[in-house]
Amino acid sequence: MSSKKIITVFGATGQQGGSVAQIFLNDPKLKNDWTVRGVSRNANGESAKKLISQGAEVVTGDSNDKASLEKAMSGATAVFAVTNYWEKMDGELETQQGKNMADAAKTTTNRCMHHTTKAAGVKHFIWSSLINVTKASKGRLTKVQHFDSKARVEEYIREIGLPATFFMPGIFMSGIAGGTLRRPSSPGAPWTLALPTTDAVRLPVFTPADAGKWVKAIVLAGVRELGAGRQVYAATGYMSPQDLLAGFARAFPEAGRDAVFATVPDGVFVEGLVRGGAGLPAFAAEDLLQNMQLMESPGYYAGASLDESHALLQDELTTWEEFAKSAPAFKGLK
Ligand SMILES: NC(=O)c1ccc[n+]([C@@H]2O[C@H](COP(=O)([O-])OP(=O)(O)OC[C@H]3O[C@@H](n4cnc5c(N)ncnc54)[C@H](OP(=O)(O)O)[C@@H]3O)[C@@H](O)[C@H]2O)c1
Repeated sequence: MSSKKIITVFGATGQQGGSVAQIFLNDPKLKNDWTVRGVSRNANGESAKKLISQGAEVVTGDSNDKASLEKAMSGATAVFAVTNYWEKMDGELETQQGKNMADAAKTTTNRCMHHTTKAAGVKHFIWSSLINVTKASKGRLTKVQHFDSKARVEEYIREIGLPATFFMPGIFMSGIAGGTLRRPSSPGAPWTLALPTTDAVRLPVFTPADAGKWVKAIVLAGVRELGAGRQVYAATGYMSPQDLLAGFARAFPEAGRDAVFATVPDGVFVEGLVRGGAGLPAFAAEDLLQNMQLMESPGYYAGASLDESHALLQDELTTWEEFAKSAPAFKGLK
């Protein structure tokens, strides 16, 4: 039998979990000690098959199905748990999914304590979390459901005493490239970074491709050294609108030369998300509006510094400029 430890990775067929799976499969400091057990609702799908061909084990599991979760975590030392709010846009459902995963991890540790099984319980549960915006804004911003729903899971994990670290991804650079930073449809208009904020906003930029670097650092440090319940702020850096435009201009001197920042009125921002390509329901557009307002005040991480989180890392993070150079939305720009 293999003496390797198991990391159960939820979302292994997706962006964050996929990055975690790749680093545990390939990194010289991890691959000899760890086996990756990816979880997918479809363990026979193409993404699952690819993971298996790369050396991972893939099991069928659904965060709505508690029995499948205990099986997925059986014998695992570490778990990376992530949910996809945007699939159903239901905060209560996302909270329940997170609690189901936490409960399953707790069950494995309880079993271990009661010696009903020889398998070791989960020693380190890593939850892809976000802050409670309602609380951090003192009740001013109550509509950022996709943050609050994850924060409720974090609170629950603390309550049940699971040995956990909270991995808190910053704003995805992929949403900026071609999303908030785009070329308006009017002819000759410059590339515009359009946000419903002033230029005092600071965006903690992150790419899910870096999730593995963060989770590697978290696992190598261990829950004891980190202290149970540690929040890790996973962002390359806080960037102002001018920083983003300067990075864009370094990547694409021609397109970036005239690029500008514009403050969009709240109603126009919401309308764009509802009527534009995203086609979001109004409540989800309001969620994203307040998400942006959060970044202006009190801040995406409620004003926390990134320094202590960066000190844990062993790998270089992707910069916005590097990301921009290979972003599909910017393909062909000079
Ligand atoms: N966009 C941003 O700026 C930003 C910032 C911070 C956090 N986030 C958060 O990031 C999350 C999405 O992460 P991502 O981009 O890594 O996701 P993703 O690439 O869309 O992948 C979602 C993964 O979750 C798995 N999954 C979905 N429902 C599941 C279920 N019921 N049971 C088991 N697995 C399930 C899917 O696996 P299968 O389909 O194979 O089952 C898939 O691997 C969202 O919750 C979002 O709020 C986004």
